[in-house]
Amino acid sequence: MCGIVGYVGNKKAVDVLLEGLTSLEYRGYDSSGIAVNIDGKVQLFKAAGKLQNLKNIVEKNYAEISKSTIGIGHIRWATHGAPTVENAHPHSCNCGKVAVVHNGIIENFKELRERLEKNGCTFRSQTDTETIAHLVATKFGEVHNLTEAVRLATKEIEGAYAICVIHQDLPDTIVATRRNAPLVVGLGEGENYVASDVPALIQYTKKAMYLEDNQIVTLTPNSIELIDIDNNPLKQKVETLPWEPVALSKMGYKHFMLKEIHEQPDVVRNVLSGKLRASDEKVLLKEVTLDKEKLRNLNRIQIVACGTSLHAAMVGKYLIEEFCGIPVDVEPSSEYIYRKTITDKNTLVIGVSQSGETADTITAVRQAKSKGSHILIITNRPDSTMAREADSLVPVNAGIEVSVAATKSYIAQLISFYLIAIYMAEVKNSMDLKELADLKHELIILPQKIEKILAHTEDIQRCARKFSGSKDFIFIARGINFPTALEGALKLKEISYINATGYTAGELKHGPIAMLDESMPVLSILMKGKVYDKILSNSEEAKARNARMIALTDSEDEKLKELFENIIEIPEISEILSPALAVVPLQLLAYYIAEFLGKDVDQPRNLAKSVTVE
Ligand code: AGP
Repeated sequence: MCGIVGYVGNKKAVDVLLEGLTSLEYRGYDSSGIAVNIDGKVQLFKAAGKLQNLKNIVEKNYAEISKSTIGIGHIRWATHGAPTVENAHPHSCNCGKVAVVHNGIIENFKELRERLEKNGCTFRSQTDTETIAHLVATKFGEVHNLTEAVRLATKEIEGAYAICVIHQDLPDTIVATRRNAPLVVGLGEGENYVASDVPALIQYTKKAMYLEDNQIVTLTPNSIELIDIDNNPLKQKVETLPWEPVALSKMGYKHFMLKEIHEQPDVVRNVLSGKLRASDEKVLLKEVTLDKEKLRNLNRIQIVACGTSLHAAMVGKYLIEEFCGIPVDVEPSSEYIYRKTITDKNTLVIGVSQSGETADTITAVRQAKSKGSHILIITNRPDSTMAREADSLVPVNAGIEVSVAATKSYIAQLISFYLIAIYMAEVKNSMDLKELADLKHELIILPQKIEKILAHTEDIQRCARKFSGSKDFIFIARGINFPTALEGALKLKEISYINATGYTAGELKHGPIAMLDESMPVLSILMKGKVYDKILSNSEEAKARNARMIALTDSEDEKLKELFENIIEIPEISEILSPALAVVPLQLLAYYIAEFLGKDVDQPRNLAKSVTVE
């Protein structure tokens, strides 16, 4: 939820910190700060609001601040305490010698705070993080060793955290640790880095070490020492990062979101690559390690996910039930974890997450794992916490997604579900071979159809301009495109703040129809297939209540012009594959409406890219 960067070496630390925070801005952006060591004194610089505010402060004091070759930085998404300067990280102890940045939530912070206050510590913020600063300073006073002080402090802390600490007396040392929040160390020559996520590192190094829970790392320019919480030395596992720095550039697009929408044809090709070679060949999915006999005998599948990933999961349910005849339950992870869920070793549990760091989904998956279920994770981050819980890991290969609103990762998740469902159907022999071959062929040519939509966005832009003044928006669909309606509505509300809702078209008459009048746009997802006529009738019902009708369709039926004020046409596609195409114009519609409204498309208010708190 928050982003952390630490640097120790020979560069101007402030440059590395600010660049790192810029690339982690997707993790939060309501306040930020850095701590550096200037002439033997730890100094904090913090600002509320966007990172630019911190950059402005740094600019004014650059000559001083840039003397430091060590520093830690933080970008915040507020949990405890409003996004003010006082609550911005880093936090410090009373003597000012310790500075701490933290991502996560300290669950026992109230008890710790009370105890520390009794012992004379004065708190300046409402955050849980400040307790860590006081606790580490107290321990340091006892043991005079920063690593040991952090280790002892973490023994008293409950909750989830990734922490970086510096101490004034140790101008070349950073100590970092984690529990249920990500942290990765970047290895350099005469310098070392630590960060919440890879984007902060890739412009400096491709050598990295992912920290595991309860490991503590001590970084100096020329050394990295790793221990566990019981002070046992650990072997370091250094990996080569797959990312390229170019992944973080907008490549000429105005926003990351637009760039990522336009990357989707290649994303589909990437997901299919090596797994689906030809329509007459079987899908290769060695990532699914579940024994084929067990797969044939599965009697239940549960899918857990949040937000956009949940919508992909809903399409996944439809596909698996349709192709394999196995009952599938889909549930928001945040609900799954707080009720008696019936799962066992005969249940396959699928966790879907772009970031692989969503706390609700990680907890849900761990809960199912403890009951013996096989865990299949579909994620864009094979290096994530969730990925490490997987028995079967299906990486979606969408490349790094910077925009807070998920687009290309959604399509990558959808295509992964098509592959998984086809693979299962082939193992179970549960589907007609001709039907399978037709679907595979359509998957292979899907990128060209997406490209066609992306090449002509004029109709969508016109529609966006026309409806950008609307206060509310309704999306309707049925069957496999109901999740598309939900996703279209989610995209619109996330980045334009318009109150948008997706309904199954058949449900409209059971209540929501009461809201319709001449000010309400209703967008019907009207794809040719078995529910086409039904949605058409539901659209007539909405029109009869004076709603402003928009169609998203692959039909060229001239009669639609009488019913719909605007028609967004897309290439013809089978109903079963249509969610992977129909979502693209909806992403564009949301984008252009937000653009016309002058919203902050890539960093919408109140949101963060990965939600690492429950
Ligand atoms: C998508 O546009 C959202 N920003 C959000 O709903 C997101 O999908 C959700 O938080 C789940 O994230 P995850 O896929 O990383 O688990």
